[in-house]
Amino acid sequence: MRLAIGNDHVAIDMKNEIRDYLSAKGIEMIDVGTNSPERFNYPVSGYKVARLVAEGLVDGGVLICGTGVGISLAANKVPGIRACVCSDPYTARLSKQHNNTNIIAFGARVIGPETAKMIVDEWLKAQYEGGRHQTRVDMIAEIQDTGHLQAAEEELEALRASLRA
Ligand code: RB5
Repeated sequence: MRLAIGNDHVAIDMKNEIRDYLSAKGIEMIDVGTNSPERFNYPVSGYKVARLVAEGLVDGGVLICGTGVGISLAANKVPGIRACVCSDPYTARLSKQHNNTNIIAFGARVIGPETAKMIVDEWLKAQYEGGRHQTRVDMIAEIQDTGHLQAAEEELEALRASLRA
């Protein structure tokens, strides 16, 4: 397995620890993050990891910034990316089983390295369950691809009309 990992300047120690932890498990880690304490714009790492995942050059991605929020928001702008920021292993597991996440993110200022290890372990162990979840994942893709969700349009139009009245 090959994973890409990225970070900003506040998450260097966490990134190094998680990268080495996963490397020690035999996972090939592609580190595209910064190792400089200079201020670093997290979208750069989020975008790099997301592109590598979306292009199928790696099997998944790990993103870490202060909260995990900005870097996952950036990654989610790349078509085909389902990145989830989480602070607990349960959410990490379910994000793969139900939402087929291909990037996991967390905050170096929010959780400690041991929780981060549990998160990546649960996420990597989990399998996407498909089935009923595929309908919902397809809906997410529909919003991404068309800017609309057919299943919501009728009710939304009625809501618009009442809000404008
Ligand atoms: C950097 O100060 C901080 O904004 C960043 O690490 C992250 O938390 C953004 O979401």
